[in-house]
Amino acid sequence: MMAARVIAVMSPKGGVGKTTVSINLAASIAEIGRRVLLIDANLETSHVAVHMGMVGYAKALEDVLNGSVNVKEAIYQTANENLFILPSRVFKKESDLNAKYKLVNLFHQIKKVKDDYDFIILDSRPSYDLEFVKLVEGIEVIIVTAPEITSILEARKMNEELKRYGVRIMGLVLNRVNKRVRNAIDKDEARKMMDVKAIWEVPEDYTVLEALRRGMPAVYTDKRTLFSKAFKTLSRDLSAK
Ligand SMILES: Nc1ncnc2c1ncn2[C@@H]1O[C@H](COP(=O)(O)OP(=O)(O)O)[C@@H](O)[C@H]1O
Ligand SMILES: [Mg+2]
Repeated sequence: MMAARVIAVMSPKGGVGKTTVSINLAASIAEIGRRVLLIDANLETSHVAVHMGMVGYAKALEDVLNGSVNVKEAIYQTANENLFILPSRVFKKESDLNAKYKLVNLFHQIKKVKDDYDFIILDSRPSYDLEFVKLVEGIEVIIVTAPEITSILEARKMNEELKRYGVRIMGLVLNRVNKRVRNAIDKDEARKMMDVKAIWEVPEDYTVLEALRRGMPAVYTDKRTLFSKAFKTLSRDLSAK
């Protein structure tokens, strides 16, 4: 197996859908038979485990960054045999609190598991995290935005900043698109506002809330929704590259 492609899902703003996109992208790529590791690299508001319905996991990314646990011991297989999770803790232990200052060392842990997967997807905190991103060789970034002006302006700033550092931007996800809402920013407008290779629309979909309650990716709860189809397109486009 070739070394995994590492894809970071990023945005300067919180609440735009990074975690939702990370989870469903990882789940969709796993569905097409590729081995995927999803890492919760948001060490402040760590919600991957919640979205995945994980309870009682003893080892987490904080332990790995603190050096008390080997990275492979903190990786959990899910109901989908191709999808693996390296979670962070929702409620932090005292010993976890320093881990976020060591996030930059995650690049080192990624190297240790790169040969075990086809894709490593990183959920992230709302930040440019340049120090970290620059250290991961060949990293690819997907920027997530809501379809409104402030979110897209910030996405544009991030796009320009990351490009300046030579980071490869795969495209922009315009999340929570609702065609009935007037004055939202559509794909064409977004394209005029920022120079990015691809733009994928992900619709606003109530199955996201249902999926959260059930603790599984929305693309698994109902495969026929426009939401699931959007992720099929996104995962195909990305894995074809
Ligand atoms: N496409 C969507 N359709 C409906 N709700 C969504 C969608 N994307 C995100 N959400 C909702 O918005 C909330 C914030 O999304 P989240 O993925 O946690 O954002 P972030 O990780 O950027 O903070 C989620 O809890 C979810 O309920
Ligand atoms: Mg999040």
